[in-house]
Amino acid sequence: MVHRVMVHAGWVVYMYLFFGTIARRRTQHIYVANWFYGAFIVVTAMVHVINHAAIPVSLFKSYSFYSGATDVMIQWWYGHSVVGFILSVGFLGMMYYFVPKQAERPGYSYRLSIVHFWAIISLYIWAGPHHLHYTALPEWAQNLGMVMSIILLAPSWGGMINGMMTLSGAWHKLRTDPILRFLVVSLAFYGMSTFEGPMMAIKTVNAQSHYTDWTIGHVHAGALGWVAMISIGTLYHMVPALWNRERMYSVRLINAHFWLATIGTVLYIASMWVNGITQGLMWRAINDDGTLTYSFVEALKPAIQAISCV
Ligand code: HEM
Ligand code: HEM
Repeated sequence: MVHRVMVHAGWVVYMYLFFGTIARRRTQHIYVANWFYGAFIVVTAMVHVINHAAIPVSLFKSYSFYSGATDVMIQWWYGHSVVGFILSVGFLGMMYYFVPKQAERPGYSYRLSIVHFWAIISLYIWAGPHHLHYTALPEWAQNLGMVMSIILLAPSWGGMINGMMTLSGAWHKLRTDPILRFLVVSLAFYGMSTFEGPMMAIKTVNAQSHYTDWTIGHVHAGALGWVAMISIGTLYHMVPALWNRERMYSVRLINAHFWLATIGTVLYIASMWVNGITQGLMWRAINDDGTLTYSFVEALKPAIQAISCV
């Protein structure tokens, strides 16, 4: 109970600072990146408060407000919204500010950014049940989660294209600017993971991918490829500005960092695909008499082999 109150209090202070700054702005316009940051702060607060609703018994003990299938549904409504509003919408805010800044070009389409914003914030919170396929959750809820996840491909790619196209007329800068490369490659990973996600949300595909390392590969295509790489690009852009320097200490080191991060992430994801799909196939293989072909431990071998190859 106490830690929840502390988390909520911290977030309220954060909200107050953010929206207070917006309220005191000197320009009339609110730049698009700030809509995304604002949505990230408000929706994270909303899902966190609802998911953590509890009935206190004493100062240090409380029971969840929900139980059974309802509880797990609320948990994944929260869980997936956190993927959506922290790991996606928050970082899309960074995209809308730092990609144009680093490319020294205006954002590609203002109209697309408005459509992107409203579509992504209204669609994301419906996709949670794709984490609960083939569970005690009512089937209509699972199907709804699957359909909403597939629909989510559209705003995800709309945003990714809006970020990428900001480089039109500035693509040549990629040859000399490794910071811009970090930002653009992060968008490519974002596009890849938001294509893979809707595919994994299809129930028959999920029957193969769930519980396997394929999920872990998907997580890190988003978490390392998109979230970490856009953050690194952003930091490299910001650090010299914060310390009033022309540029970072060494562009060559940034370049080396870029290639190591890109190649490392690709190897991580690829090895997880190979062993994840193999694991899934081995778990599902049955003999003519209906018994399992492989034991659980046997199915761990390809995972160990794939990881040790990398
Ligand atoms: C359109 C966008 C996306 C869709 C529809 C989607 C869909 C999915 C699906 C179907 C799963 C597997 C669920 C399971 O079998 O348990 C999953 C897992 C996951 N995804 Fe995504 N995904 C999307 C984008 C992303 C992005 C961009 C990130 C990170 C930046 C991300 C992070 C995760 C995480 C952390 C998990 C694992 C959750 C766990 O611990 O079980 N997803 N996603
Ligand atoms: C070099 C960097 C990284 C390495 C080596 C790494 C490694 C791992 C490993 C070994 C797991 C456990 C997988 C399992 O349960 O089988 C994991 C899980 C996870 N990692 Fe990472 N990770 C890295 C970076 C990141 C980053 C930057 C983020 C977030 C932005 C992240 C988010 C997660 C999440 C959400 C899970 C839980 C996935 C699930 O259970 O479905 N990771 N990571």
